[in-house]
Amino acid sequence: MEEKKRALSGIKPTGNLTLGNYIGALREFKKFQDDYESFIFIADLHALTLPIDPIFLKNNTKDIVAFYIAAGLDPEKTTIFLQSDVSAHSELNTILVNYLYMGELSRMTQFKDKSQKMNNEAIGLGLFAYPVLMAADILLYNADVVPVGEDQTQHVELCRDLVHRFNQRYQKEVFVMPKAITPKVGARIMSLSDPTRKMSKSDPKGDIFLKDDLNIIRKKIMSAVTDTGNEIKYDPENKPGISNLLTIYAALSNITVEQAEKQFEGCTQYGVFKKAVADKVIEEIGPFQQRYKEILASGKIDEILSEGARRASYIANKTLRKVKKTVGLYVHDSK
Ligand code: TYM
Repeated sequence: MEEKKRALSGIKPTGNLTLGNYIGALREFKKFQDDYESFIFIADLHALTLPIDPIFLKNNTKDIVAFYIAAGLDPEKTTIFLQSDVSAHSELNTILVNYLYMGELSRMTQFKDKSQKMNNEAIGLGLFAYPVLMAADILLYNADVVPVGEDQTQHVELCRDLVHRFNQRYQKEVFVMPKAITPKVGARIMSLSDPTRKMSKSDPKGDIFLKDDLNIIRKKIMSAVTDTGNEIKYDPENKPGISNLLTIYAALSNITVEQAEKQFEGCTQYGVFKKAVADKVIEEIGPFQQRYKEILASGKIDEILSEGARRASYIANKTLRKVKKTVGLYVHDSK
């Protein structure tokens, strides 16, 4: 039997998850669990790269496990685990920091965006070295594909550079070359209050959170910023608000943006269009929230994470051992 390819991805439990996380990543994950050997984790160590309240972090971590399952991940098929439960992530990170360079790390958009707002003296090393740990996450599992939203593709590209560099240096295929996969529709959902900016967990204004009350979701969509005019057309440059809403509608309807545009041909009232978008989002998020609550109440989260950690550690430790040997660390029988 031919071995299945591997898929790996994760979400960082920093803020409340948004509709952007849902469309760009969460809802995509289940598409991989039948045809790939799939690993989906919570990037909790990554959450420490910016100050975070410990109680929020812990609760949010549990929430995301419940979201994974509510989004259709089956723990029998997909290995669901915490990054901090598999020590190989930290160990491989310690090795890989030597193979990515300060120059390339300082050019990462996410680092530039986040550090720009901070005082230079207070930027943690972890924020700077973020993509190294992310590369360790991917490479430990020999992932062939990495389903992510558009904002993470630059980090996956850097990981690819590292694979090339590392394999070249040791003249063998130590690491598998990963590839980022972004959804065809919705790889970058924009903020409802400022559609020229990405919807993000750290920005509560106008963003839809997966835990928002359904009435609030409707209100936020009905008051989303749009341009003047009355045509429902996809034109991100001149009509960023309408284009973003069309994208959300198309993604959740599993149709293309062009098909969505066609559905609203002749509609001249933004209010009517917005109501259709709100209905679509609520139709999806309502049952999702229900499943999420059931999973939290089931008390099964810890069991799922223990089993996930066991399965993930087995694979990760195998890769770590191979890397250690490759670079010349003395791996002996007791290990
Ligand atoms: P994070 O937690 O910021 O985001 C989780 C996923 O959601 C996607 N996403 C979006 N997609 C569409 N529109 C948006 N507005 C939007 N906002 C976020 C992200 O692209 C991401 O796929 N570094 C990662 C976590 C991580 C990881 C990894 C991912 C750590 N190690 C290894 C893949 C492989 C992150 O911070 O994602």
